[in-house]
Amino acid sequence: MGSASATSAKSGSQVPAMPCQTLRYRSASMEDAARLSEFGIRSFITTYGDRLGYLWANRWARDGLEIDQLRPKLTHAQHWWLVVEHDEELVGYAELRHTLPPSCISSDRPIELGRLYIEPRLFGRGIAERMMQLCLEQAIERQADVLWLRVWAENHRAIAFYRRWGLREVGGDQFKLDHGYGDSLYMQRELLPGPRYPLDRESGVDHE
Ligand SMILES: CC(C)(COP(=O)(O)OP(=O)(O)OC[C@H]1O[C@@H](n2cnc3c(N)ncnc32)[C@H](O)[C@@H]1OP(=O)(O)O)[C@@H](O)C(=O)NCCC(=O)NCCS
Repeated sequence: MGSASATSAKSGSQVPAMPCQTLRYRSASMEDAARLSEFGIRSFITTYGDRLGYLWANRWARDGLEIDQLRPKLTHAQHWWLVVEHDEELVGYAELRHTLPPSCISSDRPIELGRLYIEPRLFGRGIAERMMQLCLEQAIERQADVLWLRVWAENHRAIAFYRRWGLREVGGDQFKLDHGYGDSLYMQRELLPGPRYPLDRESGVDHE
């Protein structure tokens, strides 16, 4: 999949999709700060603790997601936070942010997909699909020409998901662990300008 508007990447899925009426996708607000902080920290530790070390994961998780650090970013123009609720429960979130990318990212107006996390029991149910679609729409809305991200090179599930969405590897580096180093990949996908995506009619957020 090359550059494209924000259409679904997956067809013929064999996993049962969640009934969409029980899911709500919306921009985060200040009222979400406490549970977004809790969910964000917990999901980071769950994702990486086993393989990269719980002490390391616990420290990294808190950097940026402790409630006092998170609050100002929830309303900051350089950030956009998407939350997903299943009934009343927070089951996923994503963050887009305007950051300076590494030199391997070719873009005039880049935007970073800084975080994308789902409750593990809901993996493979189409939630990430919808989140990615909404992130791409928001990126286009913000006039970005490239969506980029950094991912742990051993996070095969996430990398498979990103590839399906047309992101390709353009570089890599290392990050410090408590014992040694881990490898990161940088991935990017071009975003076409052009006609506003149909979901703009609904502003791209607050979809039930
Ligand atoms: C990354 C994430 C958002 C993707 O959501 P998801 O619902 O799991 O995504 P999907 O099931 O639609 O897609 C996952 C893909 O990985 C594949 N996959 C699963 N396990 C895999 C593995 N061990 N190795 C390689 N591919 C794997 C699946 O088959 C699927 O690909 P396919 O649709 O082409 O078959 C979700 O897994 C998540 O929240 N993970 C934990 C947090 C995380 O790692 N975030 C990314 C940080 S950069």
